[in-house]
Amino acid sequence: MNVLLGVGGGIAAYKAAELARALMEGGARVQVVMTAAAQEFVRPLTFAALTGRKVITDLFSSASGDATLSSAVEHIAVAQENGLFAVAPATADLLAKFANGLADDFLTTAYLAFTGPVILAPAMNTNMWLHPATRENVKRLRDRGHRIVEPEEGYLACGMTGAGRLASPDAIARAVLAEGNRRSDLEGETVLVTAGPTQEPIDPVRYLTNRSSGKMGYAIAEAARARGARVILVSGPVHIQAPRDVTLVPVRTANEMRAAVLDRLDKATIIVKSAAVADFHVSRPPEQKIKKTAARLTLELDPTPDILSELGRRKGDRLLIGFAAETENLNREAHRKLETKNCDMIVGNLVGGALGFDSDENEVVLALRTGETVPVERASKRAIADRIFDEALRLRQALHARQ
Ligand code: C5P
Repeated sequence: MNVLLGVGGGIAAYKAAELARALMEGGARVQVVMTAAAQEFVRPLTFAALTGRKVITDLFSSASGDATLSSAVEHIAVAQENGLFAVAPATADLLAKFANGLADDFLTTAYLAFTGPVILAPAMNTNMWLHPATRENVKRLRDRGHRIVEPEEGYLACGMTGAGRLASPDAIARAVLAEGNRRSDLEGETVLVTAGPTQEPIDPVRYLTNRSSGKMGYAIAEAARARGARVILVSGPVHIQAPRDVTLVPVRTANEMRAAVLDRLDKATIIVKSAAVADFHVSRPPEQKIKKTAARLTLELDPTPDILSELGRRKGDRLLIGFAAETENLNREAHRKLETKNCDMIVGNLVGGALGFDSDENEVVLALRTGETVPVERASKRAIADRIFDEALRLRQALHARQ
């Protein structure tokens, strides 16, 4: 695992030396990049000695001291060579630059050129950490899918006591190494994901649908791909971009979704049904537009096929993960659906409040076939997607051990 470790200019910069060592002990190759401010606190030589590699300290300097073409494009090469991008301490200034895409030195430029997982361990004075500007920057970085290793509460070098102290080097190393291990733990799997709403026609111009944005399902597809799976994304109509390198199968109605899923069932080893499938439809919509009249119009609706239940009957040893969007009794409903639909996991979330449909964040419970209920605190949908796969892989092991 190749880790680019960015060191920002804060008093906690000296702790990054311990972090570099912990990462190396965990089997990582570490390339340190120091900002100019970081070099005021710790000398590059410390990191060079610990990692056995030249430390990158400047955008336009080369070993000989002259700017060369190779040094001018080094940030691109470094971004490509490393699978993980970690920054500790991430100062308020670095968070602001990352959040806004400013690129005025090596570290911030490499950040923009980097496409893999990013882990940020902030450290700063409590007031700076709690400032609305920093709060907004952290939220934007989280929404982008980056991991934030929260600073701890405690005595700070500035004399204040409060939140802002860099998390322990061990905790940061664990977060970075865990992210690295996730990079490949779904290799060999084919994950079939359904996402978004369905549209059920009433006539050629009108339809029934729901408020699903598809964001949760797309985050699941993206997480599965990032962890090495082949991904088939069967999606109802949404307004978001499909993740890179997934096979997108666009569908419109519940019946189309059913056909698309069953056609690809043989290929799948894990199925995640996050789509908000319509429960009712007009089974034979008229071919012509229904005329407006002054009279009351009654629509006759029939139930749609319950795709998840059908999959539950045909799943074999595939892992089957369903969703339950509820407005009350979340745990009970999630476990009830787990049983009735023969799933291995139900991801339950409360809808109707600020979270859920169309939000970038979610808060869920995972009801597992083992009878356990795992609460997952509020986090970005991308981070929740990773928790779902963490628990799914753990669950599969537990189920195999029982056999
Ligand atoms: O029973 P309920 O509709 O709340 O269950 C939600 C779960 O069932 C989701 O995983 C959803 O994708 C799936 N579902 C389905 N076919 C339907 C309705 C829901 O697969 N017709």
